[in-house]
Amino acid sequence: MKITKAVIPAAGLGTRVLPASKAVPKEMLNIVDKPAIQYLVEECAAAGITDILIITNRGKGIIEDHFDYAFELEEKLLQNPDKRPLYDAVHSVADLANIYYIRQKETKGLGHAILAAESFVGDEPFAILYGDDIIVSETRPVIGQLIDAYEKYGKCTTGVKECPTEQVIKYCTLDVTKLEDRLYDVHRIIEKPSEAEILSHFSVLGRNVVTPDVFDYIRHTAPSPKTGEVYFSEALSTLAENGRLLAVDFEGKRYDMGNKLGIMQANVEVALKHPEIGEDFRRYIKSLAADL
Ligand code: UTP
Repeated sequence: MKITKAVIPAAGLGTRVLPASKAVPKEMLNIVDKPAIQYLVEECAAAGITDILIITNRGKGIIEDHFDYAFELEEKLLQNPDKRPLYDAVHSVADLANIYYIRQKETKGLGHAILAAESFVGDEPFAILYGDDIIVSETRPVIGQLIDAYEKYGKCTTGVKECPTEQVIKYCTLDVTKLEDRLYDVHRIIEKPSEAEILSHFSVLGRNVVTPDVFDYIRHTAPSPKTGEVYFSEALSTLAENGRLLAVDFEGKRYDMGNKLGIMQANVEVALKHPEIGEDFRRYIKSLAADL
């Protein structure tokens, strides 16, 4: 079945990027001239996804406003022919996809947030993109790479990258065997492993394609005794233990907008390639680096 629906959980508290995320959801923090969540919606649209559910818990208004027309502003921009490119950039955001919103009423973890998407998804396979994982790909959009593997093998897929030990213990570890280039069978996942528990240095980095029975797996996942959160990786692990999960070692550069260093890395690297400011910014960075 063709995948046309995606879910973007964006209801976390963003405590690691406070105070920036106090009134503005971290998913609305910018990378150069676009909020992070726009990169996700553009990734979905480029992969053929037409309907997106954004799961929020606060700051819903500004996310909705961003993906809507802004009549007054657009009228003003249209009056000046020099501002036409700016008008196009502003206006086209609202046409990227049909966007729906729902609230996660209590912040009880990513698995719990995804449960709120059940009626939106119905009986179709769907994509999940974590709201703070931005992946810039020079080739096919990353969620498209996962959809390709799903369509080829008829199994759920998760996006992975090899990470250093200090990140694996904060994210998760996967037990895998190689199937083909950049594609692995997954047997098990452990969330936030100790160093002794590490199965491989592959970690799940913010992209999945799953079937709706994943909601039953989430419902059967007990909250973590340590944090009280329902981890989505436990539902993914159940899929893996049933032989139904593939890992795609995706092509693309991932930025973690959930922490301050990740936000700065995303801004610097995207700015260096930006058509408008890239050259000036490169000169600035070089002169700055010379004095470090
Ligand atoms: P994170 O665990 O990175 O986000 O969740 P967080 O909870 O906001 O982080 P900190 O620790 O407080 O800084 C990954 C994604 O899942 C969403 C987040 O918005 C983020 O996009 N999420 C997380 C939810 O939607 N609901 C939750 O209860 C938890």
